[in-house]
Amino acid sequence: MDNQVISTLQQLKSIFESDSTLPLASGNTPIFGEGTDNASIFVIGEAPGELENETGRLFVGRSGQLFRKTMQEADFDINKDVYITNIIKHHPPGNRDPTPIEIEAYRPYLDRQIELIKPKLIITLGRFSMNKFISGTTITKIHGKTHWITIIDKQIMLIPMFHPAYALRSPQIKNMFIEDFAKIKSALDYQAIMGDLPISKQDTTTQIPLI
Ligand code: URA
Repeated sequence: MDNQVISTLQQLKSIFESDSTLPLASGNTPIFGEGTDNASIFVIGEAPGELENETGRLFVGRSGQLFRKTMQEADFDINKDVYITNIIKHHPPGNRDPTPIEIEAYRPYLDRQIELIKPKLIITLGRFSMNKFISGTTITKIHGKTHWITIIDKQIMLIPMFHPAYALRSPQIKNMFIEDFAKIKSALDYQAIMGDLPISKQDTTTQIPLI
């Protein structure tokens, strides 16, 4: 894929949909992403489930519905403020975990999606999407905390969240999941006040105290 010549999401989507080299492409619906091209929040899930594969839409199964409802309750319009996609863009058989080879195969598409959208905030759902940016820790330790990551020459705020399927496992985890989403507004407000800091003044593990 030649990133230089791909300047729109639509172009990238067409290339993705005809890419038969992707490891899970055969027999599955390609599910690229959903949302506005200039979304300020970029959400990265894990992979499409069975219902997503049947419908061609993201986050429509049980855990997806929890994610959509929680975003709405945190006062975000998913059709306006948010772009959603997955690390893996085809349904893995039996909903199994993605392999490192699969994650690497889909990576150029995800990277280019982020570069084209230029979000203000990235939210990762679950450990696989968190591990794309942050390693050496666990989601239990850092969920809901703000980090800074560098993408090309820009600092972008990132908040790792639990995966909604994990949040469905117990009322306690679900409450933490909902509380973490309620912090997004203050993270964006903080960023609006602080503006873009020079890269040298920030580091990827800095955590911003959220209100
Ligand atoms: N639906 C998706 O498309 N991705 C997830 O990670 C969860 C539900």
